[in-house]
Amino acid sequence: MNKERKRSWAEPYKIKMVEPVRMTTREERHQAIKGAGYNTFLLRSRDVYIDLLTDSGTSAMSDRQWAGLMLGDESYAGSENFYHLEEAIQTYYGYKYLVPTHQGRAAEHIISQILIKKGDIIPGNMYFTTTKVHQELAGGTFVDVIIDEAHNPENEHPFKGNIDIEKLESVIKKYGADRIPYVSVATTVNMAGGQPISLENLKAVRKLTTNYGIKIIHDMTRVAENAYLIKLREPGYSEKTVREIVKEICSLTDGATMSAKKDALVNIGGFLAVNDEDIFNKARNMVVIYEGLHTYGGMAGRDMEALAIGIKESVEYDHIRARVGQVIYLGNKLLNMGVPIVKPIGSHGIFLDAKKILPHLSQDGLPAQSLAAAIYLDSGVRAMERGVVSAGRNPETGKHNYPNLELVRLTIPRRVYTQAHMDVVAESVEAVLHNSANVSGLKFVYEPKYLRFFQSRFEPVS
Ligand code: F0G
Repeated sequence: MNKERKRSWAEPYKIKMVEPVRMTTREERHQAIKGAGYNTFLLRSRDVYIDLLTDSGTSAMSDRQWAGLMLGDESYAGSENFYHLEEAIQTYYGYKYLVPTHQGRAAEHIISQILIKKGDIIPGNMYFTTTKVHQELAGGTFVDVIIDEAHNPENEHPFKGNIDIEKLESVIKKYGADRIPYVSVATTVNMAGGQPISLENLKAVRKLTTNYGIKIIHDMTRVAENAYLIKLREPGYSEKTVREIVKEICSLTDGATMSAKKDALVNIGGFLAVNDEDIFNKARNMVVIYEGLHTYGGMAGRDMEALAIGIKESVEYDHIRARVGQVIYLGNKLLNMGVPIVKPIGSHGIFLDAKKILPHLSQDGLPAQSLAAAIYLDSGVRAMERGVVSAGRNPETGKHNYPNLELVRLTIPRRVYTQAHMDVVAESVEAVLHNSANVSGLKFVYEPKYLRFFQSRFEPVS
């Protein structure tokens, strides 16, 4: 009698300001993608209808955050907003010392230069583009120690971000702990499809690294999303709050780099946070060379205020449930349409399996790059390549790295698009899938030296 009626899910906010988006014709899109060298990074945003290039810096800020901008204290030194940010980082993440930077890669640069010496090895749960390049520029070599399941899009392991403890220990034994300045642990693993690491696994990594006296540096760019997936999936955590889980994750690591443009709901910002005073002093000294004074790094006072507020909002249950919920909504819709995607559905986007969608292309035909261009041409939806182009070249041999995963990422900005937008995206992917035999491969016509996916240009292989 009292059976509860089903209630639909809805966004935990209402919309106060809108920004029009522009639909283009197929001919306009054809010209635009050709002009962009078939690289979605080189499109003008005015030619994009629904922009799923990235969840980085694309969040809609809350009214509280916008109000926070008005409290910007733009003093060169000792800005009040720095102290608010420091307090937020100590309260929500538990790290002791804060060095603000303009975004994540600046923090990666600083920590890599401080901790890595030439010939060092940095094991981690799959590479990330900017993280790896800074490790290499500091003289180190990244070694992937993620579990094998992470390289298989079909495998439904709930924690595909986990580190393979045996692989890690054999890397330590092979090179010796002296050559391993730290283990690089990302919460959720971007390149694996937004896959989380479990607390059980992180505890095992902590135990092993402590035995060998090795640090853990945490890429905490999407830590709240990882914490939410732990709450959903890991035994023993369903009653814990996301806030508690975030803090527990951070407590198992020695320091962190953060691109605050993701989880923390701001359009620009980042930081390095550490517990070791000596490393902090070195980082604080370096930041004045590359970013700005240690109480603002590369940020305006107002940006630090918005970030302090964003950190608090990012761990609120209603927010994170809706954020990840929207991604899961799109993922399930695509699965129902028979679209091959990385499983389980990750936290920040849907990753299309380009090898499966375009089976007629070899990896040298750049399937993911070609698929992203085809989706744009179909509907004006902008996605991103995460395959052989992103993986770059081996610095020693100069040959392409060929990752197992050849993916196109439909990345969902936070609090920006509605469920109706997700429906339109799914329909476009379905249309391209049905017409996939007509999608031709691409070849490089220009390739820059670093992080080539951002600026390379391509043309269709005839
Ligand atoms: N670490 C991870 C896991 C990231 O996803 C990013 C950025 C960074 C570090 C670097 O941070 O951009 O602030 O300098 N990822 C963006 C993306 C670019 O689209 O995935 P940044």
